[in-house]
Amino acid sequence: MSISFDKSLFRIDTRSTSYWISLLPTGHLEHLHYGHILRSQDPEALCDKHSIGQGNSVCYSPQSKSLCMNNICLETSASGKGDFRACAVRTSLGTLDFVYQSHTISEGIVDPGSHTPIPEGDKNDASTLKIVLADKVLPIVLELYYIAFTEVDVIARASRIVNNTGSSITLKGLASLQLDLFDSSWQVISLDGAWAREREVHVQDIKAATLSWNVRCGTSSAFHNPCIFLKRPDCSQSHGEAIGINLVYSGNHQQIIEPNEFGKVRLLTALGNDSFTWPLGPGQSFATPMAVMTYSDKGLNQASDNFARFTNRHIIRGYWRYRQRPVLLNNWEATYFDFSQDKLIKLANQAKSLGIELFVLDDGWFGRRTDDTKGLGDWTANPRKLPQGIEGLAQQIHQIGMMFGIWVEPEMVSQNSELYEKHPDWAVQLEGRDPSFGRSQLLLDLRRDEVQAYIIDSISKVLENVDYMKWDMNRLFSDYPDEGFFHSWMIGLYKVLGALRSRFPKVLMEACSSGGNRFDLGMLCFFDQVWTSDDTDALQRTRIQEGTSYGYSQVCMGSHVSACPNHQSLRSTDIETRFNVAAFGNLGYELDLGLLTPLQRSQVKAQIAYYKEHRPALQYGRLYRMDTEENRRMWVVEDPASGDLLVLDFQVHVRPNSTGDMLRLYMADENASYQLSSRPQKLDIRLFGSLINRVSPIKIEDGKALQRNIAENWGMDTETTTAIIGGDVLKHAGVKLDPQFTGTGYDSRTRVLGDCGSRLYWFRKL
Ligand code: DGJ
Repeated sequence: MSISFDKSLFRIDTRSTSYWISLLPTGHLEHLHYGHILRSQDPEALCDKHSIGQGNSVCYSPQSKSLCMNNICLETSASGKGDFRACAVRTSLGTLDFVYQSHTISEGIVDPGSHTPIPEGDKNDASTLKIVLADKVLPIVLELYYIAFTEVDVIARASRIVNNTGSSITLKGLASLQLDLFDSSWQVISLDGAWAREREVHVQDIKAATLSWNVRCGTSSAFHNPCIFLKRPDCSQSHGEAIGINLVYSGNHQQIIEPNEFGKVRLLTALGNDSFTWPLGPGQSFATPMAVMTYSDKGLNQASDNFARFTNRHIIRGYWRYRQRPVLLNNWEATYFDFSQDKLIKLANQAKSLGIELFVLDDGWFGRRTDDTKGLGDWTANPRKLPQGIEGLAQQIHQIGMMFGIWVEPEMVSQNSELYEKHPDWAVQLEGRDPSFGRSQLLLDLRRDEVQAYIIDSISKVLENVDYMKWDMNRLFSDYPDEGFFHSWMIGLYKVLGALRSRFPKVLMEACSSGGNRFDLGMLCFFDQVWTSDDTDALQRTRIQEGTSYGYSQVCMGSHVSACPNHQSLRSTDIETRFNVAAFGNLGYELDLGLLTPLQRSQVKAQIAYYKEHRPALQYGRLYRMDTEENRRMWVVEDPASGDLLVLDFQVHVRPNSTGDMLRLYMADENASYQLSSRPQKLDIRLFGSLINRVSPIKIEDGKALQRNIAENWGMDTETTTAIIGGDVLKHAGVKLDPQFTGTGYDSRTRVLGDCGSRLYWFRKL
């Protein structure tokens, strides 16, 4: 067992990390260490030394005069006894003081009973420490849970509070995790953004004031992902110390990082305290969602890899755990609401001929839904669009030889719908106030049993005919009655999802919320993947997918190749680059395949074949984000079975006559050799404009019909890069690449990248 207790020391060990807690004579729990695994048995060196009280600090008790609660690293905290930092437990009672009562160590996972999803694990890969504390005076019990997921170096945390006072109290906040660190030389990485700009990476120093991330909109949100990291200032992707924290929850949340006057830092992660109150009647309890933490002293990549392996092994569950995801075509950006059954079948046939495996029918197939102002809630097919219903369409798609999937948005209702006409009271709105709309729709009250039953029943009928479901959610919360609403609503949602998941274990389920507005570990306990962002612009996607990769594995990330100019940014990028970026996730296409030129069709066919050949590495390989200059993005995946390396080299802007490019891969095996080959790509001759006339025997005018005609049917081959390379060279020196085009010469080895140009390189391990 990886958890032990001996001579007042709790030790939680995973494969490479240790977490130490000391039980103080006062009964408080002092945090001693979270970091590299420690084999030593003696905690003395790590104990904070408190021989004198300091300045005007509050001393804990007449017996412990030198113990100041504000100057000690604690496992949990409450106010009133001299700890002036943000506290883990907040209630309507002024003062609480939790001290040790008992503990248990068990194999497997002990569920604190939060009604929110928890990771999976058994006695072979998880063990639980539960420490029970109680207030020194009032019969209020606080339980702290630590679950060690040994193999993946992750520890999950949760808290539960029980009110045995005989009268009601109000809970104003209860942290899932408190981590007090002895020094503040850390930086914080947070993943923040907006719709179409999710999970951008921000790095901040911890200075004198508190940093906090508060999400109050009802979903885990694109504003701030619950996943954050602490890193030492010198920590890079490949070297140095980092701690990652995430929350297994999909609603409001809060992360607080507070330095104090003694240079200590407190980190709290919790469901959204700013928008949370919870009545605790006599005998009642409340358990938090689980938080998870990981530590790496080998840089951020290792910490992310721990989270990725944790997600794949302990969060994603059931039939699709470790299964490869199919390449899909989604009709949304191809047709929006304007489709007929014939149009869909035509699209599906085109998709099939290119190697696509799953056809997904998005929004607009049901009830009165001809635009986004109506129809939500009525989950039966619109006969004008689908005369044979979902069943008929599914049959035809299956006959073509593809899987069939469908879009739903069950948490919502349109005012213009049969459901609303029948049950206006099921919508979340307040008497006497005009409701506020988001995308012309209202939220259903998922706290109510009858609403839950309606969703389970109506969506079950849809799921009977499909192999895949995209579950969307397109508005944020408003018009809620009280601050307990958010969490009770979320518990209702989890109940619905649990019921559907157990009824349809084999349906591939993808979560979506206006893109990546709810990309979190809570959703991933029910869904096998998440739509990463509505923004499919290749450049923006390098940022979004890179940010997402800090906390989540590639197999979770839906990533599509779409049309250009891109529908979100109006930027045009080469179709090869759109694929190269999308390939580092679950590949899909979301464009009208009928509008592709013959050249593009052959490019897409080749892309899909390449993706399928490398699918195990691209979906499940170990990902490395390389430390590069701003103008370049480089990702590497390592195939878990073969050790092959697949590299994305992406250039933001072309800089003529600039420094040479090199691939140096620190993860290469120095004792092996590698066969390097670049993915063959095609260049659109229009990239060269009128320059093409320097080599063309006939004059080809820029933008004119002849040029267009050639470009639509024929593409220039990109340079071919092949070599056999020693692993030591690759690791310690690097491969120097051929020069980029700079206007003064061109031959078959010149790399033409341009703005947002990219290549994929495959290093096959020999
Ligand atoms: C928002 C999603 O993110 C899109 O992919 C699409 O499904 C639309 N909703 C449909 O309304």
